[in-house]
Amino acid sequence: MLWFLNPALSALRIVLRDADRFDTCTKMKILLIPLIVSLLHLVVTLLVGIRYENPCHGSLVCNDNVVSVKVEVNSSAAVATVDEHFLCATLDWWPPEKCDYGTCAWGNTSLLNVDLSNHLFEVALRDLSPLRIRLGGSLQDQVVYDIGDLQVECRPFEYNASHMFNFQGGCLSMERWTALLTLFNKTSTKVAFGLNALYNRPKLASGAWGPWDPSNAHDFIQYTIAQGFQVDAWQLGNELSGSGVRTSVPALQYAEDVTKLRDIVAVLHANTAKPLVIAPDGFFDYSWWEAFLKAAGPGSVNFTTRHIYNLGPGVSQDLVEKILNPQYLDGEKRTFGSVNELLQRVAPSTGAWIGEAGGAYNSGRHLVTDAFAFSFCWGWLHH
Ligand SMILES: *[C@@H]1O[C@H](CO)[C@@H](O)[C@H](O)[C@H]1NC(C)=O
Ligand SMILES: *[C@@H]1O[C@H](CO)[C@@H](O)[C@H](O)[C@H]1NC(C)=O
Ligand SMILES: *[C@@H]1O[C@H](CO)[C@@H](O)[C@H](O)[C@H]1NC(C)=O
Ligand SMILES: *[C@@H]1O[C@H](CO)[C@@H](O)[C@H](O)[C@H]1NC(C)=O
Ligand SMILES: *[C@@H]1O[C@H](CO)[C@@H](O)[C@H](O)[C@H]1NC(C)=O
Repeated sequence: MLWFLNPALSALRIVLRDADRFDTCTKMKILLIPLIVSLLHLVVTLLVGIRYENPCHGSLVCNDNVVSVKVEVNSSAAVATVDEHFLCATLDWWPPEKCDYGTCAWGNTSLLNVDLSNHLFEVALRDLSPLRIRLGGSLQDQVVYDIGDLQVECRPFEYNASHMFNFQGGCLSMERWTALLTLFNKTSTKVAFGLNALYNRPKLASGAWGPWDPSNAHDFIQYTIAQGFQVDAWQLGNELSGSGVRTSVPALQYAEDVTKLRDIVAVLHANTAKPLVIAPDGFFDYSWWEAFLKAAGPGSVNFTTRHIYNLGPGVSQDLVEKILNPQYLDGEKRTFGSVNELLQRVAPSTGAWIGEAGGAYNSGRHLVTDAFAFSFCWGWLHH
C-alpha cells in the first residue's frame, strides 16, 4: 500500500542505476524532489480521500480482496472441435461521431478510417491467421460503392438525427476498397463482406420493402474480381431479419433477393472459385428464418448468420454480474438449439455462423466489454 512512494522509488532506481553519473548533491536533489512530491501526494490524498493511484479506482470489476487460485486444464477430452477459421473479428462502418449514452467509443476504427499502414494492426492480422474478418454493421445498408452507374450520390457519412441510425450518406471508394483488400490479402485474412441490402429498394403500397436492386453489388463484385482479389463470402444485409432493428425485410422478399445475389456470384465467378453466399446476418426469429430458408431453397445460402447481444444495452449497470453468471449466459443455449433444429429440418446443407456478437449492444461499455471481465463472456461463447 506504499503506492504514494512511487515517484520517490522511481527516482531512487534512476540514481542507483546511473550512480557514477551524478555527484552527491545532484543525487540528493533527484531524490528529494520526488520524495516531497510523494509526501504531498499522500497528504493531499488523505485529505481529499481519493486514492488516485489505486488501479481499482473507478473500475467496476476490481476488488481489493485478491485471491490466488490454481487452474488445471484437463486436456484429455475435448468439449468441442472447431474448424480452422473459427477465429473471427468484425470491422464496422461507424464514424467517430457515433456516440451512445455520452460516450463516443469508435474513433478511427471503421473500414473507412482505420489506419491501414498501422504496423501493429498488420501484425495482429497476420498472427491471428487464418482469421476471418466480417466487414459490416448497422450502416452497411446505407453504404454505396463508388463504381458503375450509381443510383444514389456517393458522399461521406454525415451526422443527421433524422436519418436511420443518425447518419446520412456513406460511400466506399474503390481506392479504399483496394487498399483494404491489399492488406487482407497480404495477411491471408479471409473476408466476409456485408452488402447493402436496402440499395435502391422501393417501398410497396403495403409499406413493406419491395425487391432489392442488385446493380451496385454486381458492379462491386465484378470490380473486386477484376482486381484479382478473392473475397471468401458475400453476405446480404445487416439485422433486417425478423422484426429487424429499425427496419426489416419480409422473409419471402429476402429469399428472392439472396437468390439474385447467388445468381450474380455464379455468373461472375463462372471461371473462378465461388465465394460463399451467406445471409441474413440478423437476429434469430424462428418463423422468419424458416420461411426464408424454405423459400430460398436448399443450399441456396451456404451459411446463415445471426447476431448475439445477450447482455442487453451497454448502459445496463448489471453487465459484470451477467458475465460472471454461467446460468445467465447459458440462456443463449436455447437459441443455438433452435437454430440447429431448424437447419437440420429445412436446410441440412446450410451451416450456422455467428456474424456479430458484441455482448452489450450500442457500442458496449467502457471498463466492461473492453476489460478482462469480458473474456469470461467470450470464453463462454466459444465453449
Ligand atoms: C480428465 O477427463 C477425463 C475424461 O472426461 C476423465 O476420465 C479424467 O478422470 C479427467 N482427469 C482428471 C485429473 O480429472
Ligand atoms: C481520426 O483521424 C482524423 C483524420 O486523420 C484525425 O483528425 C482525428 O484526430 C482522428 N481521431 C482520433 C480519435 O484518433
Ligand atoms: C437531414 O435529413 C433530412 C431528412 O432526410 C433532410 O431533410 C435534411 O436536409 C438533412 N440535413 C442535412 C443537414 O443534410
Ligand atoms: C491474394 O492475391 C493472390 C494473387 O492475386 C491470390 O492468388 C490469392 O488467392 C489472394 N489471397 C487472398 C487471401 O485473397
Ligand atoms: C455454396 O452453395 C453453392 C450453392 O448451393 C454450392 O454450389 C457451393 O458448393 C457451396 N459452397 C461450399 C463451400 O459449400
